[in-house]
Amino acid sequence: MENFILYNPTKLYFGKNQIQKLKEELKGYNHILLVYGGGSIKKTGLYDQVTDILKEAKVLAYELSGVEPNPKITLVRKGIDLVKKNKVDLILAVGGGSTIDCAKAISIGSVSDYDIMEIFKYNKPAKKVIKLGVILTLSATGSEMNPRIVISDNSENLKLGIGNFDLNVTYPDFSICDPTFTLTVPLNQTINGVIDIISHVLEQYFNQNKNSILGDEIAESILRTMFDLGPKIIKDLENYELRETMMICGTLAWNGLLRGLTNNGDWSCHGMEHALSAVYDIPHAEGLAIITPIWMDFVSKIDSSKFVSLAKNVFKINTENKTDDEIAIKAIEYYRNFLSNLHAPTSMKYYNITEFDLDALVEKTLLGKKTLGHYVVLSEEEVKDLLNKCFIGE
Ligand code: NZQ
Ligand code: ZN
Repeated sequence: MENFILYNPTKLYFGKNQIQKLKEELKGYNHILLVYGGGSIKKTGLYDQVTDILKEAKVLAYELSGVEPNPKITLVRKGIDLVKKNKVDLILAVGGGSTIDCAKAISIGSVSDYDIMEIFKYNKPAKKVIKLGVILTLSATGSEMNPRIVISDNSENLKLGIGNFDLNVTYPDFSICDPTFTLTVPLNQTINGVIDIISHVLEQYFNQNKNSILGDEIAESILRTMFDLGPKIIKDLENYELRETMMICGTLAWNGLLRGLTNNGDWSCHGMEHALSAVYDIPHAEGLAIITPIWMDFVSKIDSSKFVSLAKNVFKINTENKTDDEIAIKAIEYYRNFLSNLHAPTSMKYYNITEFDLDALVEKTLLGKKTLGHYVVLSEEEVKDLLNKCFIGE
């Protein structure tokens, strides 16, 4: 193993009725900014539940609604103005990854000496002054217990991620994760959640860390759980136990634990996907479904070792009398079938995109770096080739 820091300051309230702890968490705060998305929390009744608690706690509440999937910098700026104008001391995000990320960006942008986009573009230092609370409504990103923020700027077709795992700057201070709030997540977003959670684990599973027994075991157990859960949950969206399992998998997949044990993992697929959704504004997990098998085909020919473990320990494929290369092909076939059973897109043709600027996509993937990934280090040309395959495949 490599040396690592494991630090996670988020207080997690997990399970049914944990929203009752919100009032306690509001103690000491006076001005709250409630951040939410396009209205699902109003339909589900969660908005009323939360605003009743805010009233009981006698805090002044301001609102920022309309956070879109792939949250935009324009709304972040609006939030920053609201925080500054109203002396907000706690931001409360109620929603999925987009809402949480928007709230995180507002929290640092409100107290920064730099413009918020400079922090994203040039990794300028950020500080924490405004506290951040989360009520999670969608299991996918892990943003409820991690410091990452992903924000899009449509004016430049940029989608950028920041957030340091070793510092308490962008972690939520508390997160209320009640699976009940995810029972209303529609089929397409549930499928996206399954794919994103699996991808977060795979990105870390594919690493060259020596002596990664424990990291591998933890990753494989989340993967086994999620590969088993995926086909079940799409037929039983309101099953509490499945939602509960998915929620804890999503949080543990990307909260720093695996990251330390796997020496940061690979993350090539996320890098290329962020470029695809920066330019085409497609859902994050759909982009991952397109790029991941393409990436797997390429890297498995260079290093099949982790594909063999995946086939044996997660997919339980019969590997008798097969070479490692044959086993790797079987593992990728298994993953492709899994995605196809979830009706995930397999190509950018799904969006009727016929014109594409590969050089621009490569630039948005590499963001100034010369190579991508760690399990197999990809050159600029290789990144270009993989991105190209996203558009030409069926
Ligand atoms: O906006 P509303 O009306 O709330 O509807 C949302 C939205 O349309 C809906 N939804 C959420 N909870 C619901 C619900 N509908 C019914 N019932 C509920 N309980 O779901 C839609 C998608 O929501 P969104 O927050 O966009 O989804 P997700 O959690 O997948 O977040 C995606 C964003 O997170 C970024 C992605 O790139 C993308 O921008 N990521 C953030 C990461 C992080 N911070 O660590 C890591 C990820 O790899 C990812 O990059
Ligand atoms: Zn992701």
